[in-house]
Amino acid sequence: MPDPILSVRKAVKTYGAFHALNDVDLDIREGEFLTLLGPSGSGKTTLLSVIAGFTPLTSGSVHARGGDISRLPPEKRGFAMVFQGYALFPTMTVAENVAYPLRVRQWKRQDISDRVAECLDLVQMAQFADRMPSQLSGGQQQRIALARSLSFKPDILLLDEPLSALDKKLRADLQWELKALHDRLGVTFVYVTHDQEEALSMSDRIVILNDGQIQQQGAPDDLYNWPRTEFVASFLGKSNFINSVVLKGADGTLKAQAGGHEFPIEDHNGTAVSGETCLALRPERIRLGAPGAEMFEGRVRQISYLGERCQVLVDHAEFGEILVSHPTWHVDIRPEPHLNVSFGWERGACVPLLSA
Ligand SMILES: Nc1ncnc2c1ncn2[C@@H]1O[C@H](COP(=O)(O)OP(=O)(O)OP(=O)(O)O)[C@@H](O)[C@H]1O
Ligand SMILES: [Mg+2]
Repeated sequence: MPDPILSVRKAVKTYGAFHALNDVDLDIREGEFLTLLGPSGSGKTTLLSVIAGFTPLTSGSVHARGGDISRLPPEKRGFAMVFQGYALFPTMTVAENVAYPLRVRQWKRQDISDRVAECLDLVQMAQFADRMPSQLSGGQQQRIALARSLSFKPDILLLDEPLSALDKKLRADLQWELKALHDRLGVTFVYVTHDQEEALSMSDRIVILNDGQIQQQGAPDDLYNWPRTEFVASFLGKSNFINSVVLKGADGTLKAQAGGHEFPIEDHNGTAVSGETCLALRPERIRLGAPGAEMFEGRVRQISYLGERCQVLVDHAEFGEILVSHPTWHVDIRPEPHLNVSFGWERGACVPLLSA
C-alpha cells in the first residue's frame, strides 16, 4: 500500500474524565472517499476536528507526508472543512463567498476570478454568482459551501454531515453529485455521517466509531457482509442474532448448533472460537418456504409491505423473533400472518461474532 496521506496515531481526547476519542489509529489513503460512521456522540466530529487542527489532542499525534502536524494550526495544514451548518457569509455574494479563501491566501485578482468561475462551474452554479446566500435554496447553499471549500485546492476535504439539513430527495441527488465530484477531482474526502445508507452508497471505505473507539473499518460490502461485533452488525443494516454452539472439525471446518440443527458456518474474520457464539444473520439471507421445506419451522406474526420486498416477522420456539426480508415478486411463497412457514439459509449466511 502506498504511504497514507494522513495518519492518526493513538489519538486520545478527554474532556475531564470523559473520553471523546479513545486510542484511535487511522490511516487515510490518498484519493479515497473515507466515511466516519457512528451514532450521535461517538466522536465523529471530534476526530474530524482533530484532523483539521481545530481540536488539540490530549495525547497521540497526527501525521501527514511523514511529518508530525499535531501542532500545526488549521490554516497551515492545507485541508478544507465543510461544517454541518455550511455557514456561508450572509453579506457576501456567492462569488465573494467562493473567493474568500483565495483572498485570505493572497491569490492574484485574475487567478481568483478564474478559479471562482471554475469552482462555480464544478457545482453547476455559475448563473448564481451574483446572488446573496439568502436568495438560494438549502441545496444550492450546500453547493456553494462545497465550491468555497474546494476553491483553494485542498489536499483533503473534510465534510461534517454536509447533507443532513436537506430533505430526502435533494439529499439523494447531492449524494450522487458529491460522489461524481470526488471521482472527477481525485481529492481525498473524509466524510462524516450517521446515516448508514449514505455511508454504504458513497464510500470507498467506512470506519465505524462507537464511544470514541474504532469498532471496525473496511470496504462497504466487507463490513456489511462480515461484521465482527454485534454493534457493527446492528448499526450497519439490520441483523438477527442467534445464540449457537460452534464446533471446530478436525479439518478446520466450522459447524454451529442452534435450534435443534447443525449447519456449516464460515469464519471470514477469523473471529470464531469453539463454544458458545452469537451468530449474525441478515434478514435478506433467510429463505422462506412452505412448512417442511426448510430447516426450521416458525409462525408468521407480522408483515410489512415495502414495495419490492416485505419484512416478515417469524416467531420461532427457540430463536424468538426472526426478521426476514422477503422479495414480494416471489410467487411460490406468500407469507401471511398466523401461517406456519419454514425458513433456512445458505452456507456463509451466519457470521460468527466476537464475544462481547
Ligand atoms: N467541548 C466539549 N466539552 C465536553 N464534551 C465534549 C466537547 N465536545 C464534544 N464533547 C463530547 O464528546 C463526545 C463526542 O462528540 P462528537 O461531537 O465528536 O460526536 P459526534 O459523533 O459528532 O455526534 P453527532 O452525530 O451528534 O454530531 C460527545 O459525548 C460530546 O458530548
Ligand atoms: Mg458531529
